[in-house]
Amino acid sequence: MSVTTVNSWNDFDPLKHIIIGRADHCCIPGWEPAIEAKIEKNSDMWGMWGPRPLETVEKANEELDYFTNVLESRGVRVDRPTPFQWNQSAHTPDFSTETLFGCMPPRDVLLTVGSEILSAAMMMRCRFWEYLAYHNLMQQYFDEDPNFRWEQAPRPRLTDNSYQLDYFDGITKEDLAQKAKECDFVTTEHEPLFDAADVLRLGKDLFCQHGLTTNRRAMQWLQRHFPNHRIHSVNFPTDPTPIHIDATFVPLRPGLIINNPERALPQEQRKIFSENDWEIIDAAWPAHDRPPPLCYSSVWLSMNVLVLDHKTVCVEATEVNQMEQLDSLGYEVIPIPFRNAYSFGGGLHCATADVHREGTCEDFFPNQVPGTQIQPI
Ligand code: ALA
Repeated sequence: MSVTTVNSWNDFDPLKHIIIGRADHCCIPGWEPAIEAKIEKNSDMWGMWGPRPLETVEKANEELDYFTNVLESRGVRVDRPTPFQWNQSAHTPDFSTETLFGCMPPRDVLLTVGSEILSAAMMMRCRFWEYLAYHNLMQQYFDEDPNFRWEQAPRPRLTDNSYQLDYFDGITKEDLAQKAKECDFVTTEHEPLFDAADVLRLGKDLFCQHGLTTNRRAMQWLQRHFPNHRIHSVNFPTDPTPIHIDATFVPLRPGLIINNPERALPQEQRKIFSENDWEIIDAAWPAHDRPPPLCYSSVWLSMNVLVLDHKTVCVEATEVNQMEQLDSLGYEVIPIPFRNAYSFGGGLHCATADVHREGTCEDFFPNQVPGTQIQPI
């Protein structure tokens, strides 16, 4: 048997090997098209680009290290990326940025489908080079696992054509909500763009959140790239800035998903789940009424849990409601302090990327019904 096996088809089968991000040198990005989707103009981060305060980096790293130790003590192999000095500008023939971003969270970049790890075609310019922080690990897996498929989605150009540059000009909350309902996002369909954290992996079926980090062209690309899978498009019309599916729609085990009650999946798109005996229940309400300082995400990181197997789950240690719900669903709940790491780009699921889980590519949705097909561009 090889030292390393890359193999993961979903987010709930027994976890053997995972990557956990690092907060070193992480930066708050400067202005770039679409940045307002991540950093609202009235937030504490607006105009504050550059290295994050050292003390916050240290606190986040302590939590990331603790999380690593807990998983290792349970027999999971944990690898860590190689951070760069992210406080440097990036240049391509098409654009320049003031800073890079970081290597927390890996879930946004790396999409593991079976024996393949695919670097995503991300829509933020400051994240263009982020995949390089995982290069050493990918090289190691390539050398150690003869079946590992080391893949890269088409590198996006990210010219101004990839964005509606006037999208946020004078926009009201109501306008933004209306645009999201109509799937009119700040990113365009000019080229395939996706973040890996928008792809929910359920064996043969991959459910992609259509939002501002993932467009329909990317779903078309993913369908051609994974011809043996079925790519579905889902959207959550009451989320005004849909970024990543894992604080919105989170599978816990075969047949069970928690859905953010403020971002319900529309009826038409639920059919494929009900027709295949999957239950969708509301996630518990977050314990906090606001995210921590300098945080890109919403309070719904509460449901951004990491499932270790069908009976064990890691939950942020202060998210008492989410812990209680999972306990009542029969889980052993492992509390992990993570509020300081949240600010760097996400919760326990975001902060990780799968390398190996037991299990095979199952067909959980033999009854394919209309409702989630990729919409024409
Ligand atoms: N964008 C997701 C949220 O903030 C992670 O809820």
